[in-house]
Amino acid sequence: MIQLIDVAKTHRRGQAEVHALRGVTCEIPQHKFTFIIGPSGSGKSSLLYLIGALDEPTRGDIIVEGQRLSQFTRTQRDLYRRHKVGFVFQNFNLLNNLTAVENVLIPYLPTGEARKKRSEAESLLRRVGLGDRLDHRPNQLSGGEQQRIALVRALLKRPLLVLADEPTGELDSASGAEIFRYLRELKDEHQSTVIIVTHDRSYIQPDDHVLPIRDGRLAELAPVADAASVRADAK
Ligand SMILES: Nc1ncnc2c1ncn2[C@@H]1O[C@H](COP(=O)(O)OP(=O)(O)OP(=O)(O)O)[C@@H](O)[C@H]1O
Ligand SMILES: [Mg+2]
Repeated sequence: MIQLIDVAKTHRRGQAEVHALRGVTCEIPQHKFTFIIGPSGSGKSSLLYLIGALDEPTRGDIIVEGQRLSQFTRTQRDLYRRHKVGFVFQNFNLLNNLTAVENVLIPYLPTGEARKKRSEAESLLRRVGLGDRLDHRPNQLSGGEQQRIALVRALLKRPLLVLADEPTGELDSASGAEIFRYLRELKDEHQSTVIIVTHDRSYIQPDDHVLPIRDGRLAELAPVADAASVRADAK
């Protein structure tokens, strides 16, 4: 379980302050899908970045596996990001001068483990239907194929936590559904906890956890009625 305790984030730009998050307290269940939903600018990505320790809160704390992220040393933060968290970004974050399989191995380049991980990377890419694309570069691939590479890169380390920011944002609905199918399959296999920001509620299933955010706060009227309609939508 992940606990968020009064998590706030204020961005300062010169004199201006933007309150991206205004105090979020909640629990995120383990081994499940949690969907963060809410209007543009409501703080969804900010929340995901804080949980992944890519950014630090202005106030409050996040507890993962009993450990407070705020008390991590720099080395512990690095290890947490590198080994425990798999990030899938909306824009894929792939490097065009590397092949599909090389892109998947990026996280292992600094530690010199890339060679060791190569066959596993290839077999995961095959699993998601990219067996004949291993040596293609991102600009030779479709959006859905690129997103599957980003997904394999995030999942290769069998992360405790998968964080995905609009992973299907740029995909048509068939490719989007495909991404979710792989995500659910691999999550069950690796026992990961998956947190996904999405605008598309049709991917939410009855057993999933939903965190509605509005204006930097948990939407308090996340109401049963709302949840029910989310579920009805999903059917
Ligand atoms: N680095 C930053 N500097 C200043 N303001 C920021 C920064 N990052 C985010 N913000 C602001 O914080 C608020 C929340 O941003 P965030 O990216 O979390 O929203 P979001 O819910 O993910 O929106 P979207 O659905 O459009 O991606 C927005 O008003 C945004 O402009
Ligand atoms: Mg966002």
